Order: sequence, then C-alpha cells, then structure tokens
Amino acid sequence: MTSDLLIVANRLPVDRVKNDDGSTTWRKSPGGLVTAIEPVMRANDGTWIGWPGGTDQDLEPFEDDGMNLVPLSMTAEEIEGFYEGFSNGCLWPLYHDLVAKPEFHREWWDVYVSVNRRFAEKAASLAAEGATVWVHDYQLQLVPQMLRELRPDLRIGFYLHIPFPPAELFQQLPWRRQILEGLLGADLLGFQLPGGAQNFVRLVRQRVGHKTHKELVYLPDGRTVRAEAFPISIDAKGFETLARSEPVAERAAAIREQLGNPRKVFLGIDRLDYTKGIVARLRAFSELVRDGHLDVEDAVFVQVAVPSREQVEEYRILRDEIDRLVGRINGDLGRIGRPVISYLHSSYPREEMAALYRMADVMVVTPYRDGMNLVAKEYVACRLDDDGALVLSEFAGAAAELRQAWLVNPHDIDGMKTALLQAFEAGDKELTKRMKAMRKTILAHDVAAWAAEFMRMLSDVDNVHDKEL
Ligand code: G6P
Repeated sequence: MTSDLLIVANRLPVDRVKNDDGSTTWRKSPGGLVTAIEPVMRANDGTWIGWPGGTDQDLEPFEDDGMNLVPLSMTAEEIEGFYEGFSNGCLWPLYHDLVAKPEFHREWWDVYVSVNRRFAEKAASLAAEGATVWVHDYQLQLVPQMLRELRPDLRIGFYLHIPFPPAELFQQLPWRRQILEGLLGADLLGFQLPGGAQNFVRLVRQRVGHKTHKELVYLPDGRTVRAEAFPISIDAKGFETLARSEPVAERAAAIREQLGNPRKVFLGIDRLDYTKGIVARLRAFSELVRDGHLDVEDAVFVQVAVPSREQVEEYRILRDEIDRLVGRINGDLGRIGRPVISYLHSSYPREEMAALYRMADVMVVTPYRDGMNLVAKEYVACRLDDDGALVLSEFAGAAAELRQAWLVNPHDIDGMKTALLQAFEAGDKELTKRMKAMRKTILAHDVAAWAAEFMRMLSDVDNVHDKEL
C-alpha cells in the first residue's frame, strides 16, 4: 500500500524493547522529535518509516494509535557506524558547537551513506504518485537527494531539529559538499532559527557555488530550494489539560510531600547528554548551598536524566561524572532525609513529567547549545496559575521566544548562581508577569501551528509536482 504523506525519521515513535523475561514490547521513544511529529501524523493518516531500536530484523509494518508504522531494521554494524558513529560521534558534536570533539572516520561515513540509501529506497517504494515526504533530522541528510533521484515526482521537505552550525565549524566536515548536496534534494528545508537557515544558504553559495537570494537557492536544473526557520513547539493545550487533571495534581502534591515539603523545588529534566549542561547547573546550585545562600530545608534540586545513547563513550563518561558529582554534593552538603540533589536516571511517561512541571517552582534549562529545547516550553505550558520561574540558557533555540525567562550563559557559573537566586527570591508579581507573557507565546504557537506552516510552505513550492496534498 502506498501513502500520500510519509514521515522518514531515524526513529519510529515507538522503540522495541526486550523485557527481563525475554519477551518484547513497544515503548514510546525519547526525544523531542517524536513528541512533535506524532500529532501531525495522526491528523493526516500518514506512514512513518523509522528504526525501531535494537537489531531485530524483518519486523512487519503495523498500526499504532492511528499511525502506520514501517520499521526499518539495522544490523549491529549499521547501528555502530551510522547511529552511534557518524550521527552521534561526528555530526551531533559538530552541529552543537563542538561541545565534545567530533570524530571523522571514513568507515562511519560509508555506513551513513548506505543507511541513508536504505531509508530513501524504502520511502520511494511506499510513496504514492506525487506524494509528500517529510524527512527529519541530522541522521538522514542524504535522503532528500537520494529520494529525488529515485522519485522526481515527489514533494520533499526536510526539517533539521538540531542547530545548523556556522560555516567555520561545518567546514571541518570532510564530506561537507555531499551533505549540502544531499539536503538540496528537498524543496523546502526547515531550521529551528533564522541563523541556521542563513548558515546553510551561505555555505551553499560558498562551497557548492549555487546562486542564492535571501532564503532561496537556485539550482542549475531549474529547481528552487527554500531554506527557512520554523521554530518547533509542543502540544501546549495537551500539556495544559494534563497538568490540570486531578491525578496529575495529586501526584504533584505527593512528590512535594516525598521531598519533605521544601519551600521551593528546582527542577532539571534532560536527556543525559553533554550538550545539556547538567554538570554546570548542579555545580552552580550546590555552591549556593555551600555558601549559605540556600538552605537544604528551603530548597532541593530534582534532576531527571533520561538515559540516552549509552553505547557512545562520551555519554558513559558523562553518566559517571554526574553520578560522582551528585554523590559528592549530597555527601558534603546534605542532611539526613534532606539531599541537596534528588537525582533520577530514568525516563518517565508524560503524566509524571506534567506532575513534575506542576510541582516545581524553578525550572532550570541550561544547555550549551540546543536546537530548541521542548522541556522549557512544556514547563511553561503546565504553569496553569501563571507562576513558577524559568532559568533558560541563551544558547537554547527556545530563548529566542521565551524572552521573559531568566536568561543565562551556562559557561558562566557565577552568572547562573545569580539567576538561580533571583528566580528563587522573585516575588509573585514578577513571576506572574513573566510567566503570563511566556504562556501567551507558547499557547499561540503550538506544534500543530508549526507543522501546518511547514506543510503549507511545502505545498506552495512549485518545482515539478502535479498533485496537492
Ligand atoms: C534529539 C534529536 C532526535 C533524536 C532524539 C533522541 O531530539 O534531534 O533526532 O531522536 O534527540 O535521541 P536518540 O539518539 O535516542 O534518537
């Protein structure tokens, strides 16, 4: 069966996981991408091609919660070279301002090319005549061009969920030209921020030599490619409704109780990733306790770190570092029944996240670099009474919209300490003023608006296509 709308992403919205007894089940995948796309899929009866996680081969397509899911299996070698290697050992750090050192291995690149080709071939085989295909994220940057070669009749969109780096960094990539040409197979390229789109257009002009004008690239074959910013958002109403529900309210109260009813709770929720600035923020908070600005009877920091990419060495090193740091801080500064940091290394369902957002007084989001950061937006959506404070890194895409947060430079520990303390001490009037403005922004531009804008722009492209979506 073919489809008029296809999503092609590295991950399916569900992961196949092995239980202790050897049986397998499906579980929602972590990360912002899935959260953002799911509602669009349901609304359009689309088909989603993605990796189900793990090495199970030949899984059949299936329906889940109103979506058609097509698993694309990977071998252990493909996972190592394509996912852990090129995507997360090379592109991820390179695109996040070199927070870690990218590794440029030719064997990884070869596997990246071959896995991208498998995604493109699968999409080509499932797309109806003139269908729209929306490709996602840094793992699949060659798919647009490969797919166009196989199926020139398709309308192809690409969205990058992470930052697109400045030319000075991107140029380090030995395969820079191939990546740029791969992306240019799309009709429309979406980026989180205008800066990312501009970086891309500039690189295409300088490195590939195509003519450009503002957000447009003119290709020698007559096609025009548009590169623009579409800042992603969340299902704001969905989160608000969840936060308002009785079970979530009760759970929020129960969590505070379990924490010993401190005056204020600080909260961090992140995938356990070195881009997120978890260590720096815990240091800043612990120094405030050490120096007597905060007391453990008054304030506690709840840090949730969602396990992620655990086979990649940098991630394992970071996990150990956080484990040690939390142990040391609690050992040095905690009291019986009063840890300084309540640390959870686990992933939680949406309901539990909403309860955490509801109960936390200060949300701390301090990445060194982040495409958008949906956690910051989710917190805002869950603050039904226009209260609570957001401390947000200037280097998260979300900072472009959430101007009323306490904006911080995560490299500046003293600056972060000042902001944490100000957020802790802020009066109700100030909190309400800031949160009201942020809630207005988030509720006015939710994920449905984001997807609708991208789709509208994509359907406006008049390159070749005969059929409208
Ligand atoms: C980020 C990326 C996504 C990715 C997610 C989770 O949000 O932009 O493409 O799916 O992290 O990471 P993982 O490696 O587990 O897919």
